[in-house]
Amino acid sequence: MNIDFVILAAGKGTRMGGDSPKVLANLAGQPMLQNLINTTNNFKQSKRIVVVGYKANEVKKQIKTTRKTDWVKQNKQLGTGHAVKQALSSLRKGSVSVILYGDVPLVSPATLKKLISSAKNNSLALLTFNKDNPSGYGRIIRKGRNAIDQIVEEKDASASQKKIPEVNSGIMAIKSNSLSRLIPLVKNKNAAKEFYLTDIVELANKNKISVKALLLKDNTEVLGANNLQELHDLERAYQKRVAESLISSGVRVADSSRIDVRGDIEVGRGSFIDVNSVFDGNNTIERGVSIGPGCFISNSIIKSGVIIHANTVIEDSIVGSDCEIGPFARIRGGTEMLSGSELGNFVEANRSKIGKSSKAKHLTYLGDTILGTKVNVGAGTITCNYDGKKKHKTVAEDNVFIGSNSSLVAPVKLREGSYTGAGSVITKNVGKGELAVGRGKQVNLKRKKK
Ligand code: UD1
Ligand code: CA
Repeated sequence: MNIDFVILAAGKGTRMGGDSPKVLANLAGQPMLQNLINTTNNFKQSKRIVVVGYKANEVKKQIKTTRKTDWVKQNKQLGTGHAVKQALSSLRKGSVSVILYGDVPLVSPATLKKLISSAKNNSLALLTFNKDNPSGYGRIIRKGRNAIDQIVEEKDASASQKKIPEVNSGIMAIKSNSLSRLIPLVKNKNAAKEFYLTDIVELANKNKISVKALLLKDNTEVLGANNLQELHDLERAYQKRVAESLISSGVRVADSSRIDVRGDIEVGRGSFIDVNSVFDGNNTIERGVSIGPGCFISNSIIKSGVIIHANTVIEDSIVGSDCEIGPFARIRGGTEMLSGSELGNFVEANRSKIGKSSKAKHLTYLGDTILGTKVNVGAGTITCNYDGKKKHKTVAEDNVFIGSNSSLVAPVKLREGSYTGAGSVITKNVGKGELAVGRGKQVNLKRKKK
């Protein structure tokens, strides 16, 4: 069975404020529409048609598609029914159409599969849910326990209809040939003077197409985002769901309402995540890792047994097993820390490799640096890697001891087992086992008494 997804994304989203198209509003680290595009990737053999209008080029530019996508233009936003009409000529004969709303981004592949299978016998299958405060949504008017009469939009609903808690998610599935038959019959005789897609419920009934509703229990999948408050509520609902799934997979999360995952994350059993950390992009965190409060971790791999103290930032880096980082450290630029190494408070490592069991515990900048095994970097050490035009490398081989407050002017190499005296400015390579001292000699002058 071929599935044709029609994603409605042409509206401006006036209720959101701002000038950017609503479907580009960020949810869980990516545009709302991107969430839906990724969901449809789960359906092999499916076709994807996205209806765009307001700032269409900007939408196309910002959305990443790994599979072919048909972009269809709706020049004037005359309503959701009119939007679907623009996609009709792209539908395949004999397929089932699934309509998705660009501002209802979190529906799961499993729910869509259920919906699709109930549309197979030439039914119109609607995804509905109950909402405590249903205002703004289309209400589901039932004529019996299992039959749906119509959907009434907020603006057209009577006082008693407004009290109905069952609402339309906007998501529906129907055979494409039935959709093509019904959509041209939709009129705009309503309070908003729009062509409502929701009118096809009544039209289906008139044309002997049965209408079924799949009533979802967990409504976080189908909440829509029309304004900033709803976007906030959707983000929080999503984050809570991610936190709960981490907890159920054996991760201790200090507070499920104080963790944000903006992207994909894998966390091993027995790990602990303290409050207020943000995980961005693709992160893999292995078993038994402890992450202190207020950390930002982006596109990184954290291996087992690592301890990350409070307020640490790790970007695009790999942290080997049993390393210790922070508090207040920043690791970035493809830095790799090998097992058992430590970068402590106010240490920045950029494009560097930190060898096994090497340590820089305080106030240090390591840029374009390669440290061997068991190197000790004293407090206040700076690699001077930039000469104003180019970046240069600093190498400190195994067992090097760098005295506090050393400046290592790159390119420079400290050979195995060498030392630098505290406060040195090192401009020349240091040989094996040598002690380099590069500082003014101390002079103690007697002072005349007044
Ligand atoms: C819609 C439904 C409502 C449902 C709710 C669920 C209709 C008439 N109403 O209302 O029953 O409860 O969603 O969230 O369908 N769009 C276009 N072209 C247009 C108009 C809209 O592409 O001409 C797109 C928008 O960009 C948006 C989506 O369709 O992504 C839904 O439009 P919106 O105006 O948000 O509909 P709601 O008022 O939320
Ligand atoms: Ca909406």
